[in-house]
Amino acid sequence: MKQIPVFKPLIQQEEIQAAVESLELGWLGMGGYVGKFEEELAKFLGAEDRYVVAVNTGHSALHLAMMLIGINPGDEVITPSFNNIADFQAILAVGAKPVFCDIREDTLCLDVAKVEELISPKTKAIIPMDYDCCLADHDAVAELAARYQLRVIHDAAHSFGSYYKGKKIGTFSDICMFSFDPVKTITCIDGGALVVKTREEVETLHQMRLIGMGQPASVMYGNQRAWTYDVSRLGFRYHMANLHAAIGLSQLAKMPEITESRQAACSLYNELLSEVREVKTPISDFKNVTPFLYYIRVPSNKRQALRDRLKQCGIDTGIHWQPGHCFSLFDKMTKGDLSITNKISSEILSLPLHSLIPTETINFVCSKIKAFFEGGNHE
Ligand SMILES: Cc1ncc(COP(=O)(O)O)c(C=O)c1O
Repeated sequence: MKQIPVFKPLIQQEEIQAAVESLELGWLGMGGYVGKFEEELAKFLGAEDRYVVAVNTGHSALHLAMMLIGINPGDEVITPSFNNIADFQAILAVGAKPVFCDIREDTLCLDVAKVEELISPKTKAIIPMDYDCCLADHDAVAELAARYQLRVIHDAAHSFGSYYKGKKIGTFSDICMFSFDPVKTITCIDGGALVVKTREEVETLHQMRLIGMGQPASVMYGNQRAWTYDVSRLGFRYHMANLHAAIGLSQLAKMPEITESRQAACSLYNELLSEVREVKTPISDFKNVTPFLYYIRVPSNKRQALRDRLKQCGIDTGIHWQPGHCFSLFDKMTKGDLSITNKISSEILSLPLHSLIPTETINFVCSKIKAFFEGGNHE
């Protein structure tokens, strides 16, 4: 039996054609497609006062963001423990320490009320992360950050295309990052981007993503390279390549249909599952967001049995996430009250959500969930 996967990229003729064209160009590294991808991303965001820098993963975007704002060894960065490992590792990569904060039960995003008590003289930045269709309280984070003179790295890996209080994600944060990895709302196979406010930050990022080389992006975007340049700062091989940008460009053009289909799918999930008493669904009408994944919460003592049952029916499920503070690597790291994180992470379950997912698939998944809870034979 073919399993219904949790994630499924929307790779159609356009992406294949774009990939072939970029390969036929014969300039495989960073070049014109990357410049165009940044340009189109900036247009899509509509942020006239911001600049987009494309990189090879969301993780590298986070690492570069830490370097850009001068996070140093011994510094602390406050992040939800309920976050992706990429964030924690990016903090470690600059020698700093993640300080794990709890989330809110309604939004599953950073509980800003609990952030303040974690701020110490070593704190340099806060990472508000948008979880799926839920958005962090960005106004409250910005207010707190301003009060304590902290930087904000907005992890918008899940919220590309969404709106916060009428403003598009990526247009209002101190620094914002996106991921275009294989399972994200749009993919470059692997890719990421940073959105920053100044040309100076762009220049620094251009060097840092290119092992420190002072090659002007304007030369590389002409599918050429400068043979002489200075190296004046630490850098990594984090640039995006033409092939990836070409695929990203064709994905970006599909955002309207991607958004529509994901909104419709999540609304249908919410509607069908509202009949199942033991299932908690996201609190959202999905109108202002482009949902990246669809999650439910189920009693923790029934989650594995439900997963096993769905698996037998050909339905894959996922767990996003195991919280950061539970990994052995972070045993000794500072932790606040993480009671909501512990509760949510034992209940959370990701269901299949794909762009253009057929309605029948959602009906099928929901019918199996209903049967599991109504059957009473899951103990
Ligand atoms: C919230 C969040 N941040 C960062 C990342 C890292 O992005 P990437 O996989 O492109 O490195 C992910 C990836 O899943 C993510 O979910």
